Amino acid sequence: RLGEDPHRPGYHVTPPANWLNDPNGLVHWNGRYHVFYQYNPTGPFHGTIHWGHAVSDDLVHWEDRPVALSPSPDGPDRDGCWSGCTVDDDGVATILYTGGRGTEQLPCLATSTDESLTSWVKDPENPVIDELPAEPEVLRTEDWDGEFRDHCVWREDGVWHQLIGAGMEGGGGAALLYVSTDLREWTYRGPILTGDRDSAGTVWECPELLNFGERQLLHVSNYEDVMYFLGQYDDGKFTVERRGKLDHGDFYAPQSMWTDDGRTLTWGWVQEARDVGAQWDAGWSGSLSVPRELTLAEDGGLRQRPAAALTELRGDGEHRENLRLRADEGRELDVQSRQFELKATVRLEDADAVELRVLETPDGEEQTPIRYTAASEVVVDRTQSSTTPEATTDSQRMTVTPYDAPLSLHVFVDGSIVEVFANQRHCLTSRVYPERTDATGISLAATGGTATVTGLDCWELDSAWRS
Ligand code: FRU
Repeated sequence: RLGEDPHRPGYHVTPPANWLNDPNGLVHWNGRYHVFYQYNPTGPFHGTIHWGHAVSDDLVHWEDRPVALSPSPDGPDRDGCWSGCTVDDDGVATILYTGGRGTEQLPCLATSTDESLTSWVKDPENPVIDELPAEPEVLRTEDWDGEFRDHCVWREDGVWHQLIGAGMEGGGGAALLYVSTDLREWTYRGPILTGDRDSAGTVWECPELLNFGERQLLHVSNYEDVMYFLGQYDDGKFTVERRGKLDHGDFYAPQSMWTDDGRTLTWGWVQEARDVGAQWDAGWSGSLSVPRELTLAEDGGLRQRPAAALTELRGDGEHRENLRLRADEGRELDVQSRQFELKATVRLEDADAVELRVLETPDGEEQTPIRYTAASEVVVDRTQSSTTPEATTDSQRMTVTPYDAPLSLHVFVDGSIVEVFANQRHCLTSRVYPERTDATGISLAATGGTATVTGLDCWELDSAWRS
């Protein structure tokens, strides 16, 4: 693995070096947690994509495994093994993924019978679907014969069901449903949901359907955002009741794992926010988010929480109660770190905003304020995050619905990642690249009035890698 680099995350899943994009094939197999990911082993750019592999016994300590899938020079995946999922076919781990060949996107299958999921055998009949569906007509572009890729597979009433992401000619994104009895011969059933191009994007990548009992959640990645739809999936159709974004920052193409004890854990690709030259110099690009546990609350809304296992990483910490913040007066924490977790409950009172400043130099030249405002917004302000011109400086924001209760902020900082959970509902993942070695400060301040932080905990977090 690449060594010392203050921007390189220590406890978020990263490739050993080079490029990572989507998480793939997440599976809890024989008691171990497997994460695969879109991986280019030849450089920190999106080139010929393989499946990288990491494994964990506890969801927080990870070990690199050999590359799981590589393009076959004469195969339907010769230009890339793109995104897909893993299912349990009667004890045989089976991957459905998209093969890239020239301008084609071709659904392919591979199996593994080794317990550690190290070696995979591709099906000689690949691709398992060799025609685009007739209706709706799939979008063709200069680059692609059809925008038709990424796979979400589940078993329902003894029948395999599969969603493939697509774009429609003249329309928006679509999640297309196929059914099969053996994972190899598929019958097309039509879209479970299509989107309006203007409000939901032209192409839906990486569709995933999650079952929460009475309600289902469908999320899709539309080149910009991860949109989710909450509602009812029934007999091949999805009826939308609410919609939203899974995250408001640098978070894309998420995928989930169903653990043996029934939890839904979701990881997303945390993209870089610095130019390609800087990624090239670093020798690596891309990281996964921390695993998030998704649940539906009694009010029918979505909850997102960091997986409970992350508490295992906690080291030295600090606890404060009823911290009064007077206007324009900063309070520094004792913890100084680039790799920490912070939980705070914030009551604004008559302040305009409270800022939690992370990755801050003593003179404030570099700092990233996470600002909670009286307009019920959380803003990650990147204008002063870094003195290098290579990093993005625009701010990112999300609305946190007003509540009578104070705001609960839960923040994970890791090298160049700032991952924010607000009220266990709203997420914003951001990337920042402070240059100075003393950008390790953490402080709190109120502006325009007084505020109270009723409780605060901060812990340094250990690194996750066992190589
Ligand atoms: C999403 C995506 C997928 C595709 C993969 C290729 O980021 O574009 O649609 O399968 O990445 O790496």
